[in-house]
Amino acid sequence: MTRLTKLSRSIAGKIALVTGAASGMGRATACLFADEGAKVAVLDRNGEGVATVVKEITEAGGTAQGWTLDLAQGEKIAPTVVEIAEHFGGLDILINNAGIDASGRIQSSKYEEVWERCFTINLAAHHRLIRAALPYLSKSGAGRIVNIASTEGVGGSAFSSPYTAAKHGVVGLTRALAVELGTQGVTVNCICPGAIHTGLTAAIPDKAKETFARRRVPLRRYGEPEEVAHATLSLVLPAASYINGATLVVDGGFTIQNNGGTLSPS
Ligand code: NAI
Repeated sequence: MTRLTKLSRSIAGKIALVTGAASGMGRATACLFADEGAKVAVLDRNGEGVATVVKEITEAGGTAQGWTLDLAQGEKIAPTVVEIAEHFGGLDILINNAGIDASGRIQSSKYEEVWERCFTINLAAHHRLIRAALPYLSKSGAGRIVNIASTEGVGGSAFSSPYTAAKHGVVGLTRALAVELGTQGVTVNCICPGAIHTGLTAAIPDKAKETFARRRVPLRRYGEPEEVAHATLSLVLPAASYINGATLVVDGGFTIQNNGGTLSPS
């Protein structure tokens, strides 16, 4: 059939940098983008994990190259982004996904330390990556940035204030840069995942996950990394050309309930 519409849903040939790509949602996103024909820079502090994901993609016939970097080393971010762009010949898509859990009571003696580390990795690394990637993204003609925030970026939980504050920061950074960078042809959006089965939630006992999902999530289960990766893909498509500054919640309906999140038993 002759196509009746103009916009493309293909990222084949696009160059994408995914941070935190050795595990969880980052790995799922790197694999999905490779499946879709993108050339993927797999970046993570976990060198072994990076090598595994790159092998997985290349053995499946995709294109990927790995970079091992701890994003807490802020001064190394810009040179690494330049290296990635030079290796692939540009950069079209940046996925700011790497993040750490950082819970802590406000009165904890370690609070300052937890706050500092959380903000360095969960927020400051995002602006450093964006600043370094921008010259390439704006040359792309259809530059795309997706920041991975959290449902903690739209609501709050006790004992989680450093993480919640940083994730609200990710939403704010997204909105301000969407306004600022729109004129450069670069869109900036963010995803707020709910409870997802990844390395970050691996230590939560299965029973606790089941209870949480049954009581609080309308879909009554945790999400899978690939379900978030598909939402991320939808924001970087050439056809997503008019989506800018959006906050896309991917949480099985967790945050929109008006009954206090207490589901009736089933
Ligand atoms: P994960 O632990 O499976 O993956 C995170 C990856 O980021 C790991 O491979 C880790 O090595 C990497 N990373 C962490 N700190 C780094 C650093 N300093 N430098 C470089 N790489 C680093 O966790 P997940 O869940 O896939 O996390 C991805 C993002 O999703 C994070 O930003 C997290 O805050 C967010 N998120 C996760 C949720 C969940 O339920 N799993 C819910 C909401 C948001």
